[in-house]
Amino acid sequence: MSDKHDASGVPTTGHVWDDDLGDFTNQPPKWWMLGLTASAIWCVVYCLFYPSIPVSNAHGFFKGIGGWTAINEMEADKSVVDEVRGKYEAKLKDMTPAAILADSELTEYVTRSGKVLFGDNCAACHGTNGVGTVDKQGLFAPILRDDDWLYGGKIDDIHTSIVGGRQGVMTPHKGVLSDQQIDDVAQYVKAMSEEGKDKADADSAVAAGKKVFMESDCTACHGADAKGMQAMGSANLTDKVWRFDGSLEGIKKTVAYGVNAGPDARIAVMPSFKAAGKLSDAEIKKLAVYVYKFGGGQADAPVAK
Ligand code: HEC
Ligand code: HEC
Repeated sequence: MSDKHDASGVPTTGHVWDDDLGDFTNQPPKWWMLGLTASAIWCVVYCLFYPSIPVSNAHGFFKGIGGWTAINEMEADKSVVDEVRGKYEAKLKDMTPAAILADSELTEYVTRSGKVLFGDNCAACHGTNGVGTVDKQGLFAPILRDDDWLYGGKIDDIHTSIVGGRQGVMTPHKGVLSDQQIDDVAQYVKAMSEEGKDKADADSAVAAGKKVFMESDCTACHGADAKGMQAMGSANLTDKVWRFDGSLEGIKKTVAYGVNAGPDARIAVMPSFKAAGKLSDAEIKKLAVYVYKFGGGQADAPVAK
């Protein structure tokens, strides 16, 4: 047995094994004992103060003398948040969306709450972050992130879209135009999108279609320049952006059956969020600013601050 560790003077229990092995009764260090006692006291105080031990009272547990509940804590947190928000919400109430947009601090606040509102109310149709959603007819609800607008990208246009909803109507042309005419006009529309309007106008291969376009009712809604009219949301037919299927067959179908005009028509209905009562005026304003801030918003005349 080595005697490297001199254990003389340390009290033992008196038990000895194997002739040589003693059992010391060293006390733990003082700091450790203090810690142990303190934590025991802490446990007792904690259990007395907070809801803790299961007992057979009305609640099924001892409620604690501190009166703490998770609900109270949440309410307290909420009232702090409400106080911060209240300042902005009160301001928002009497402001136009354009005035909100002119105030960078408010715009920041509004875009944050707009994100949640958009996710809850709009994303189902317009896609997360307004990237649009596609169904078998093409784009179901338009992309809100680009600068291509059916009804206009100024802040008031966007606001009006959300307040009243939108429902572009294009009349069907089956029976009004012959199948040949529908085919011709579709070729011309496709050419305008692919080559640009000027080239399509000069392209003799689609001259018949141009004639149909100019002489039937297309210009009444899409304009003689075919660029569409935002007042009625008639699409710009000279760009490369397609709402619905932009293939020749797809265009023929749109021309033949129209939009929102009967069982075979393209469907494009944006509900009115004011009429549905689903959103408050303030929420609609927030969303208008939020959508504007996606990046496609178009400037008005400068707004006074
Ligand atoms: C039920 C599906 C649906 C929901 C929900 C919906 N939209 Fe729409 N939205 C549409 C469709 C479809 C159109 C295009 C209407 C048309 O083509 O005439 C549209 C058009 C718009 C436009 C006009 C776009 C343009 O190019 O001018 C804006 C702005 C808009 N929506 C914003 C919103 C916001 C904000 C919400 C949420 C509050 C929302 N929408 C919820 C389907 C929806
Ligand atoms: C009563 C008004 C009206 C008339 C008439 C009309 N359009 Fe339209 N057209 C619309 C509206 C509104 C839309 C689209 C709305 C939307 O996207 O919700 C549309 C959409 C279209 C589209 C789909 C564009 C895309 O991006 O997918 C094509 C193609 C089209 N029209 C071609 C024609 C042609 C060709 C004629 C003439 C034969 C015509 N339209 C006559 C109102 C009209």
